[in-house]
Amino acid sequence: MRVLVTGAAGFIGRWVVGELLARGHTVLPIDSLVAGDETNLDEFAGLPGLLPFEAGDIRDADACRRWTSGVDAVAHLAASISVQDSIDDPATTFENDVVGTFNVLEGARASGARVLFMSTCMVYDRATTPEGIAETHPTRPASPYAASKLAGEALTLSYFHAYGLPTTVVRPFNTYGPFQRSVGEGGVVAIFNRLSLLGEPLRIYGDGTQTRDLLYASDCARFVCDALLSDAATGRILNAGTGADVSVNDLAALVEPDPARIVHVEHIHPQSEIAVLRCDSGEAERALGWRSEVSLEDGIGRVRAWMAERMAAEIPIR
Ligand SMILES: NC(=O)c1ccc[n+]([C@@H]2O[C@H](COP(=O)([O-])OP(=O)(O)OC[C@H]3O[C@@H](n4cnc5c(N)ncnc54)[C@H](O)[C@@H]3O)[C@@H](O)[C@H]2O)c1
Repeated sequence: MRVLVTGAAGFIGRWVVGELLARGHTVLPIDSLVAGDETNLDEFAGLPGLLPFEAGDIRDADACRRWTSGVDAVAHLAASISVQDSIDDPATTFENDVVGTFNVLEGARASGARVLFMSTCMVYDRATTPEGIAETHPTRPASPYAASKLAGEALTLSYFHAYGLPTTVVRPFNTYGPFQRSVGEGGVVAIFNRLSLLGEPLRIYGDGTQTRDLLYASDCARFVCDALLSDAATGRILNAGTGADVSVNDLAALVEPDPARIVHVEHIHPQSEIAVLRCDSGEAERALGWRSEVSLEDGIGRVRAWMAERMAAEIPIR
């Protein structure tokens, strides 16, 4: 298949590009590079399925029509992903995550391409029971980021219902791995590992009892490709996570053995925090036969080794 990947130079985008190429597909990677980095795709250079990278913006409707013409499928990952940025500047998140998604869908409608919209577990309301969060769990737009993702989901599914376009919505839980940003509001695993390797204190927002279901990047990419390419996912919303959650306190202790180097600071957006995030991936397993494979300890080890190698080679870590 010929697959357009938006947000291809970002963290998860680059793993999805790698997975699609490994499966023998042809990939058109596009990204505005507002947060991504073209060097994230360096290791795929020269592979036969990789079309030349295009720098461009999904807010540009004409560009979206051009990119989607002649493709069989679209993995739509490009987005503003920061909860705090969406609170400070909701317009940018709205433009990228809602208007951009609309442009991608319009392009796909013209070409008949199937579309996977990358949503997030951050759309869910607080969980009050110990069971994992299934797709039927109520949603709650606790930030403009979550609201924009919910709007993108609704648009994506409307193209299935109104036009019969094969579209799918996925809600991966917090994803981590090599190539994730480790500064600003990057991923917690990346940030903690970077600080630990630099010998700096790990700062935990709030009391650290909030939990996360941490999905390793290759598991997430496998899930995205399975959902994108399977008719069983068409017209549906599917979660992906490991089914086990870890508190931020326990995560910090796994990364940094010296408790004196772990400090608690005031939360920057407590109103948009979700206390317990544990995924029920039963639907993805039933529909796609997908399960996560990489354990948290193994995944953390891989991130640390990757980061340490980059630091030793003096490659800048973002
Ligand atoms: N990281 C996670 O834990 C996680 C979990 C669930 C869902 N997601 C979703 O997965 C997707 C990828 O997230 P990520 O963690 O890789 O973040 P990322 O910031 O690394 O990737 C997003 C990419 O989109 C690009 N982009 C942003 N606006 C654009 C625009 N207008 N036009 C073209 N490109 C644009 C950025 O340059 C960046 O490369 C996002 O849709 C995010 O909401 C992420």
